[in-house]
Amino acid sequence: MSITKLLKSLENLSEVGYVGEPVSQLEHGLQAAGLAIKAGAGEHMVLAALLHDVGHWCNPEALQMEGLGARDHDRLGAEYLVAIGLQPEISALVGAHVDAKRYLAVTTLGYVAKLSPASRKTLDYQGGPMSDEALSAFKASPGFRDALRLRAWDEAAKEPQADRPNLEYYRAMLARHCREPISEAQLDHWDRFGWLHIKGWYSEDEMVSITSATDDLQARPEVAGKWMKYFEGADGDARTLCRIENFLQYEPVYAELLQGNANLNLLSLLINERAALFKEKINFKLPGGQGFSAHQDAPAFTAFGQRFHVTMMLSIDQGTTDNGCLEIATTSRLDDLLDMNEDLTLSDNAVAGFRWVHAETAPGDLVLFDSYVPHRSAANFSAVSRRALYATYNKATDGDFRARYFTEKRRVFPPDVERRAGARYDAGVFNVGNPVSLEKNR
Ligand SMILES: [Fe+2]
Ligand SMILES: [Fe+2]
Repeated sequence: MSITKLLKSLENLSEVGYVGEPVSQLEHGLQAAGLAIKAGAGEHMVLAALLHDVGHWCNPEALQMEGLGARDHDRLGAEYLVAIGLQPEISALVGAHVDAKRYLAVTTLGYVAKLSPASRKTLDYQGGPMSDEALSAFKASPGFRDALRLRAWDEAAKEPQADRPNLEYYRAMLARHCREPISEAQLDHWDRFGWLHIKGWYSEDEMVSITSATDDLQARPEVAGKWMKYFEGADGDARTLCRIENFLQYEPVYAELLQGNANLNLLSLLINERAALFKEKINFKLPGGQGFSAHQDAPAFTAFGQRFHVTMMLSIDQGTTDNGCLEIATTSRLDDLLDMNEDLTLSDNAVAGFRWVHAETAPGDLVLFDSYVPHRSAANFSAVSRRALYATYNKATDGDFRARYFTEKRRVFPPDVERRAGARYDAGVFNVGNPVSLEKNR
């Protein structure tokens, strides 16, 4: 089933009362999802909150509980979400939301008395408070804590009026959380060329919070030992921010973006096995910022013996030919290194052998490319910045190298604030093709 069809079904619930509560079924789901967003929950939990009660309508044959909805709506809902192709983390949570109620009915004093009359009535149909045995099994299940959080949003989502995003807000998020989030044609393009442009992976509304997290990161002071700020320009007068690395742990928005279910699933699909985050950076390319020489990433990413990487570029600002968007060599997929200069950039000969295409992107677009795809970018000749996030992943079976990578990079090629005045840093593989200066900038 397509996401459009699912959204249509949900939209129809705006006229359907939520079994004995003062809200429609649609409003109930929207409020639960809105509360999940306010709580900073991961996207799979937000979607589980939105969809937790689909079991009440997804199966017209379901047995009813005397006007209080479908029997076993937790199980029916979970099965339905699997059937329409959403990721298992979402259906698992939906399948556990009644168990959470039965658990709380035993463990929390006064819980049953505080339930709404309708919810108290359905508790009987749902098997009543949990037995001791069921209780220990539920407590030991991996989704236990998340199921309790979802339950709390469920119970609070019954206000006659509430401030929450509307249904359309979830369209792009739902598409991202499908088990197969890209088409056959897109996968085919990936297999043939080793790169792929996905439009609108994040919606305009979603980009508001990602952009503001980026603004925030950009404005942060330089602090030794934390996020790593690098500059271009050799003297103090021309100090232009080039990139920030190692920021996952400092801005919560990025934790979901870099390691949440949706993007890990996408990357795993392209890598052909479980993906693990290797490193993350934002290239700022502010007005006047310099370009990046043509190169393949592979020779720069070998420090820990890994063999293969995929990089996900998220366009934060618009990327245009004028402001130095990513350029990719048109060639069938490569699996080897091309002719290189000593600094690991491509030789003039290699560069001249390709036609280069400009990957112009809108905010929210992704461009994914493997570590053998030749790429480059021009300087920013426009008056607007061209900020782009680059997250690189390796095969999880090769190992988890992110912490070691940043420790090593900090030692060999430290951010500006950690540099000694007058010293020149031989960046080696840590600075292939990019315009970061090799000396302290101030
Ligand atoms: Fe429910
Ligand atoms: Fe509910």
